[in-house]
Amino acid sequence: MGATVTVMMTGAAREFITPLSLQVASQNAVHTSLFQDPLAHIALPAQADVLVIAPATANTIAKLANGIADDILSTVFLAYQGPVVIAPSMNWKMYEHPVVQENLRKLLSLGVMQIGPDCGPLACGEEGKGRLAAVQDIVDAVIAALSPKDLKGQKIVVTAGPTREYMDPVRFISNRSSGKMGFSLAKIARNRGAEVALISGPTALRPPQGVVFRQAHTSDQMFRAVEEESEKGADALIMAAAVADFKPVRQSGVKLEKRGVSTIAVDNTVDIISSISSWKKRPFIIGFAAETGSNIEKAKAKMSGKNMDMIVFNDVTEKDAGFETDTNRVVILDKIGSTSTELMSKDEIACIILDRYMKIKT
Ligand code: PMT
Repeated sequence: MGATVTVMMTGAAREFITPLSLQVASQNAVHTSLFQDPLAHIALPAQADVLVIAPATANTIAKLANGIADDILSTVFLAYQGPVVIAPSMNWKMYEHPVVQENLRKLLSLGVMQIGPDCGPLACGEEGKGRLAAVQDIVDAVIAALSPKDLKGQKIVVTAGPTREYMDPVRFISNRSSGKMGFSLAKIARNRGAEVALISGPTALRPPQGVVFRQAHTSDQMFRAVEEESEKGADALIMAAAVADFKPVRQSGVKLEKRGVSTIAVDNTVDIISSISSWKKRPFIIGFAAETGSNIEKAKAKMSGKNMDMIVFNDVTEKDAGFETDTNRVVILDKIGSTSTELMSKDEIACIILDRYMKIKT
């Protein structure tokens, strides 16, 4: 990511890890005392784009919430006017204590952003809510803190992942979608200030914090969830999910016998986009076209056939694009024309799609 990192350590932090380790890791001088460089508490805040306090102990949280400035960290906090991200970490009983909760509420009301803590085994040997958030979640929170909030006020519904169309309790028709493209869209829209509802088929991904997350295993469940979330006044619906096109006509309540099945009769599933796009007052609809080959005409036909406002074409046979990969290459088609991207991360593709949406909306 290329950020320049300056580390400050409290006395407690130095009990766990040496300043030298963090100096080497950050390639920068580490600040351990208010008096090591008497003006650092003014110079550091002036240079920083974001202040990240990870892990934030109950003691540090209490000091920040009450304006106590008795070490380099708490003093820099008072002199800093940019975005602050805190990642609390402590024993679960300490975290639940009303005093800690009150202090956190106060910090959040002042605009501080909190990430975690997570649930799980704690350093003290107990289990509960108090683990430091995963590093990737802290990095995501920092990126969110630094993102422009140009989607503030927008309500966006995003679908992701595959659907499963069951023929019996253990077998289903599905596809290779991992959910990565849809999860990237939900995360970037949230970073940019949108209110996001993410509706997902079964995936191995962790939903981004701060979005409404709904699971929908079958196309019927996804349809109902999309209807319910869109009815809440959604401005945009982004259908990145690979909704199955067929479902078995019959669903057995028990596991089918091997010898009892020679063919599987299928029905078409409900077309979610076509249904929502027929509403009188409807969201702006962005669909995806997953094609095997570079036939853009098929995507254009899907856009007009389903009455979408924008379609994102991806050739799922291309190397490192489409299903399961962290990268994608797309062509975006809409009423004002088209734009093609290079191969890039799904987060970057999500940014470009949302930029295009905002350009058309405004
Ligand atoms: O999840 P990943 O592994 O990251 O992969 C990403 C992706 C390849 C799944 C994604 O980029 C993508 O292309 N998603 C759409 C897949 C798809 O279903 O394409 P389609 O051409 O079959 O459908 C066209 C559009 O109609 C899609 O927006 C789809 O969500 C929608 N649809 C499809 C069927 C149906 N019954 N109802 C629908 O609304």
